[in-house]
Amino acid sequence: MGTNRRSFLKLSGLAGIGLMTGCTQENKAPTTAKLDHIRLEATKKYSSTFNMSGYAAPKIPTVRVGFIGVGNRGSAAVERLSQIEGVAINGICDVRPEKAAEAKGRIKTGGHPAQLYTENAAHWKKMCEQADYDLVYIATHWQLHAEMAIYAMEQGKHVALEIPAATSVEDCWRLVQTSEKTKKHCVMLENCCYDYFELLTLNLARHGFFGDIVHCEGAYIHDILESFFDAEKRFDFWRLKENAARNGNLYPTHGLGPVCQVLKVNRGNRMEYMSSMSSKDFMLQQKAKEMAAKDKQFEVYAEKPLRGNMNISNILTHSGSTIMLQHDVSSPRPYSRLHLISGTKAFAQKYPLPGKIAIGHADFLSSEEMVKLEQQYTPGIVKRIGELAKQIGGHGGMDFMMDWRLIDCLRNGLPMDMDVYDAASWSVIGPLSEWSVANGSQPIEVPDFTCGNWKNNKVHDIDLAAAETQAALS
Ligand SMILES: NC(=O)c1ccc[n+]([C@@H]2O[C@H](COP(=O)([O-])OP(=O)(O)OC[C@H]3O[C@@H](n4cnc5c(N)ncnc54)[C@H](O)[C@@H]3O)[C@@H](O)[C@H]2O)c1
Repeated sequence: MGTNRRSFLKLSGLAGIGLMTGCTQENKAPTTAKLDHIRLEATKKYSSTFNMSGYAAPKIPTVRVGFIGVGNRGSAAVERLSQIEGVAINGICDVRPEKAAEAKGRIKTGGHPAQLYTENAAHWKKMCEQADYDLVYIATHWQLHAEMAIYAMEQGKHVALEIPAATSVEDCWRLVQTSEKTKKHCVMLENCCYDYFELLTLNLARHGFFGDIVHCEGAYIHDILESFFDAEKRFDFWRLKENAARNGNLYPTHGLGPVCQVLKVNRGNRMEYMSSMSSKDFMLQQKAKEMAAKDKQFEVYAEKPLRGNMNISNILTHSGSTIMLQHDVSSPRPYSRLHLISGTKAFAQKYPLPGKIAIGHADFLSSEEMVKLEQQYTPGIVKRIGELAKQIGGHGGMDFMMDWRLIDCLRNGLPMDMDVYDAASWSVIGPLSEWSVANGSQPIEVPDFTCGNWKNNKVHDIDLAAAETQAALS
């Protein structure tokens, strides 16, 4: 291995996984166990010290928020949160000072001192250590999520962090253990759980409309190949580096979160084991070669295949239901966040849009029938905040609905809709899929991050039944 390649791996923080262990399509038939640290971590058993599911932390009348990482995603979050009553944006941290200043400029209302932390790559620690924050909102690249979240919780802050919460089994456990130890919430910002069709199907499932759930499917399919090589799009080409170093489903939670809620995963059910398969890399290496011809910095990516275009993972739950997840960010095809539910009585599918529902094997319901169903089954949270969320926006409104509910729960001392067990179990599919792909699609156990508490944990409140719910717009 050349010096350049070694230093790239070291710099990218991705040494030790993926490229180093040869989990690419070059190695189709497993000869010896690969990435075995993942399997070993996945089979370790821990016990719970405190159950964060359903835990209501003390009320926080004004939630003082500090943001870390305000690139594309984080700066939009600053704008959204500045429009929620009971929020004070006290700090914004980014290693790129211009990004922090831009994000501050997106604040829409008064009462947000927004001190900037931009001195160096560790300045976020200073923000976490200060007493003027209740919530640290993290939207950096993936490799920093767990470290930042754990440090923030240890400093007594609740955490909201972008997807995925972590990229290793160890870090998923560390998030759980830190949240339990500190009694601080660790909410992974899986916005798809707040999309309108997903919430409708969740409510339908809870009312028994689908009967028993036989099978669910979810996906993140988005052609962002060009953007991998665009310095303007993401900090330090972090998404390209991930796809060069790891082969599996790197972004499982958009597809998985909503179907796990339908299947009551961590709240009456759990994911037991999974297996995963990746297609060959048909495009990324070719693109890297084209880019390397124009720009030497991409040569390191042109040496061998990167992550296969398509990853398919299959998961079995304790209830006997199956989940099929897909991930493809490089093939030229229409965008899809597939959300499919197949029950003993009814069926639902979103993507292609609009979402459709069928009862039995007959045709999908007509648009008039869909309207009637929506009138009857739209959950309370959508009735309360859905229209406003559409006006403020963020992926059609789901981003705002998610942020609003996060603040609502913190202000009113309510349990979180998505807790640390959801963050860990939805994210862990990433590293587990890497192991399975590297080992000929062999099955691997999904850790039970609740340590058995899933049997008694209750589903979250989508009807805003708790009378205290009152956070609103500024
Ligand atoms: N939920 C969604 O729909 C959605 C959509 C897009 C992105 N995301 C997630 O949001 C996160 C960020 O994605 P993005 O597209 O905004 O990436 P980005 O590269 O635009 O933003 C990341 C920011 O983190 C900053 N950063 C890097 N190191 C830092 C450090 N040490 N201290 C402080 N700041 C640091 C960078 O300067 C950059 O501004 C990712 O986890 C991604 O998966 C989620």
